[in-house]
Amino acid sequence: MTANSEQIKSQVKEYWNEETCGTWASGKEKFTREYFEEIEKDRYEVSPEIKAFADFDSYKGKKLLEVGIGAGTDFLQWVRGGAVAYGIDLTEEAVRHIKHRLTLYNLNAEQIIVADCENLPFDDDFFDIVYSFGVIHHTPDTEKAMHEIIRVCRPGGRCKVMIYHRHSILTYLFWVRHALLKLRPWKSLSWVLYHHMESIGTKAYTKNEALKMLDGQPVENIRIKPVLTYYDKLGRFGKFPQICAKALAVLLGGDNAGWFLTIEFDKKKHQHSS
Ligand SMILES: C[S@@+](CC[C@H](N)C(=O)[O-])C[C@H]1O[C@@H](n2cnc3c(N)ncnc32)[C@H](O)[C@@H]1O
Repeated sequence: MTANSEQIKSQVKEYWNEETCGTWASGKEKFTREYFEEIEKDRYEVSPEIKAFADFDSYKGKKLLEVGIGAGTDFLQWVRGGAVAYGIDLTEEAVRHIKHRLTLYNLNAEQIIVADCENLPFDDDFFDIVYSFGVIHHTPDTEKAMHEIIRVCRPGGRCKVMIYHRHSILTYLFWVRHALLKLRPWKSLSWVLYHHMESIGTKAYTKNEALKMLDGQPVENIRIKPVLTYYDKLGRFGKFPQICAKALAVLLGGDNAGWFLTIEFDKKKHQHSS
């Protein structure tokens, strides 16, 4: 890792340690039941597509790894669904959140630790399913993180990854706000996301770029699909901006202009030579 990417990773860690992902949805006292329930309600109201993508109840008894748990809302659903759940995040705060959460509901997970998605501390071929939602585009070497996800998944196992989609309505609106209106229209979409989307260094990908990360990897049955989100639809804004966003979505092809790029694939089974 270069000195620069090391520095970026520590800034990423600092950013998410300061405010764990999704916790802005609650004004209630930290770690109380009300706090966690507000976070959970907001998450699936704002992003119902997560449940459809993850399919939390279909992995009972399966060994599952969630990479980048954040406040642990999805992780909780995996545990409730009966998965043998392992979770990692770069931040101590994320780990603290999920530990409080599981205790509150009297639930157990197999292991939750601070770790880096670019170097997963697990053996090859260990998990039946590896899930990561909105995480690996934050780490400097996203491709390495993708390859780590594949490495720890067992042959015949499944990986589900969401990364941000560059050619999306949200990115274009971000560009208007941070490039055009700031009189620097020469700045690229990638520049705007890198400097203004959540932690420093955030990236977003086209479908082809995402597929390229899988080149040469032992994967098959790849399904890649952008999803139009609440953020593309300007869900937190008033009626007029929402109508404009809707019109833009129709012009740009609906889900094809969505901010979430969902990628699902199976790890190839070992070939037996006869
Ligand atoms: C946008 S949040 C998503 C969290 C959660 N998956 C969700 O959907 O709410 C990004 C998360 O990625 C974690 N993260 C960033 N870089 C990471 C890395 N190199 N290794 C592990 N986790 C990382 C952050 O700490 C943060 O919790």
